[in-house]
Amino acid sequence: MCGIVGYTGKKKPINILVDGLRALEYRGYDSAGVAFWSNPSIKTVKRAGRLNNLVSALQGIEDKPGYAAIGHTRWATHGAPNDLNAHPHSDCTGNIFLVHNGIVENYKTLKEELQKAGHKFYSETDTEVISHLIEEEIKNNPLYSAKRSILNSINKLQGAFALLIMVKSEPEKLFAVRNFSPLVLGINGNDDEYIVASDPTPIARHTRQIIYMNDGDMAIISPKGYEFVDFKHNSLKKDIAQIDWDIEEAQRGGHAHFSAKEIFEQPDVIENVLRGRLIPEEGMAKLGGLETVREKLRGIKRFVITACGTAGFAAEVGEYMFEEYGGVPVEVELASEFRYRKPILDPETAVIFISQSGETADTIAALRESKEKGALTLGIVNVVGSSIARETHAGVYTHAGPEISVASYKAFTAQLTALVLYAMLLGRQRQMSMTMGKRIAEELKNIPQLMRQVLKQSDKVKEIAQKYKDFNNFLYIGRKYNYPIAYEGALKMKEVSYAHAEGYSSAEMKHGPIAMIDENFPTVAIIPKDSVYEKNFSNLQEIKARSGPIIAIATEGDEDIKYITEDVIYIPKTLEMLTPLLTIVPLQLFAYHSGVLRGRDVDRPRNLAKSVTVE
Ligand code: M6R
Repeated sequence: MCGIVGYTGKKKPINILVDGLRALEYRGYDSAGVAFWSNPSIKTVKRAGRLNNLVSALQGIEDKPGYAAIGHTRWATHGAPNDLNAHPHSDCTGNIFLVHNGIVENYKTLKEELQKAGHKFYSETDTEVISHLIEEEIKNNPLYSAKRSILNSINKLQGAFALLIMVKSEPEKLFAVRNFSPLVLGINGNDDEYIVASDPTPIARHTRQIIYMNDGDMAIISPKGYEFVDFKHNSLKKDIAQIDWDIEEAQRGGHAHFSAKEIFEQPDVIENVLRGRLIPEEGMAKLGGLETVREKLRGIKRFVITACGTAGFAAEVGEYMFEEYGGVPVEVELASEFRYRKPILDPETAVIFISQSGETADTIAALRESKEKGALTLGIVNVVGSSIARETHAGVYTHAGPEISVASYKAFTAQLTALVLYAMLLGRQRQMSMTMGKRIAEELKNIPQLMRQVLKQSDKVKEIAQKYKDFNNFLYIGRKYNYPIAYEGALKMKEVSYAHAEGYSSAEMKHGPIAMIDENFPTVAIIPKDSVYEKNFSNLQEIKARSGPIIAIATEGDEDIKYITEDVIYIPKTLEMLTPLLTIVPLQLFAYHSGVLRGRDVDRPRNLAKSVTVE
């Protein structure tokens, strides 16, 4: 999704903006642009394609220190990804420049009204409407301050928007507005400089002091300081938070791609998720973030888990865990569907929201709907201070560190681990014995070590990926706990290699997809030695009988599997509920190596955005 960066301070801004936009590249984009002061006025430079196109276009242009500047990476929604539609956008008079993340839902009506009033539009974007709206406001009320004109204008907008606005008459100032799209302010008090961005990544290299903006906030920022107001012009007081992760964490750490780094650091991530939260001797999980609702959880009769994409597949694994060990009924629903149904919720229902970014628009909408209906809302979120983390009644951070690769790897296994801890907590409050709790705790403690063993097979997985490099269709199958893993494995393959991959239940395969099977249609089968192994094995024989090549993810010691499959990747033995934490790893590696071998941009696959902040 679009990325926003803004700067005001005594330094020259171009390099700061470009560095900031680079840090936001992982969000996904198809054009980029900047606006800054360059004698005698504000200059905009915008280019379709990669950031380097913009950098080339900026060569030799002088930027002026001491004034505000804004930058943007655009992920196209309204209008093609070309130079003209790229942000920043301006008004007819060239006095207002702004960048936007989100969608203005009433832009058509506003555009028609503004056109009738004589405004000329040059782009196909919804964003341009905002600059003309502010221009109109200033024209009709010339005695108003820029702050007042902007506030009056944004009150006419419907939809989601994070905006960063520059106005020629107040050259040092940045006007930052947040409504359902994320925005944070970094404060470098020593140097009297301020950086605004879509997330803390571009800010962390300049300062650790940060203010997370809320929906309905506007910040007016200059090198002399800042003030916050709400959309009704009332002053707001803000707390300053600290960025507590290291910028080095966001670098590649010797790996060829962020994807590889983030796959390989998963054992450490799991250790982070578990740190201080597992009490093996009591068979218990202690989740500080749930302490305030711990007693309330005893009375919860039903859980709903909602999320999107990869987080949604983690939710589905969670359903099996919660029902088997937590002893509570669970429904899983995609957040995008949840928000448009009439979900039946009450105070005895808890809704869990899983999200890496904590900013996914559909998940946030589902959260707000759940709160409105009186449900207890809980989070499993990675990004500290994100909207979902702040708006849920209570929750658990996954502590996976910044995830830069657009495709989610480590966030997924961190979410699964957090779900195990939730299941233990709920189970021990209900029917789970201490003995069972201890067993899970002991096995869970070993998972990072077992995961390291699986990762050692990366070269073998690469060889298999090489063998199947020219195949463009794959079926992924699994059952029970590994049924959602088949979907997640297929999603990874689609995202980073662009091959068609279909997730399916091994059992359901014979109700349709088996028609596709022949020697050119490989199946990736997840078949650990678990309670459904025999059934799974029969399903594989049905594929074998139709000459379909099979790549199996199986448990060490399973020799039988070799007779019906072309390739096997073994995982160590563990408790059935924990197998997804191991089976997903070879599938991540398979997708990653397949993507690299096919020459894909694995860290930033085409058309994808890291954080989907629009519907
Ligand atoms: O930030 P979130 O976890 O809420 O994001 C949800 C999905 O957009 C995300 O998992 C997406 O499916 C990724 N591309 C998966 O690799």
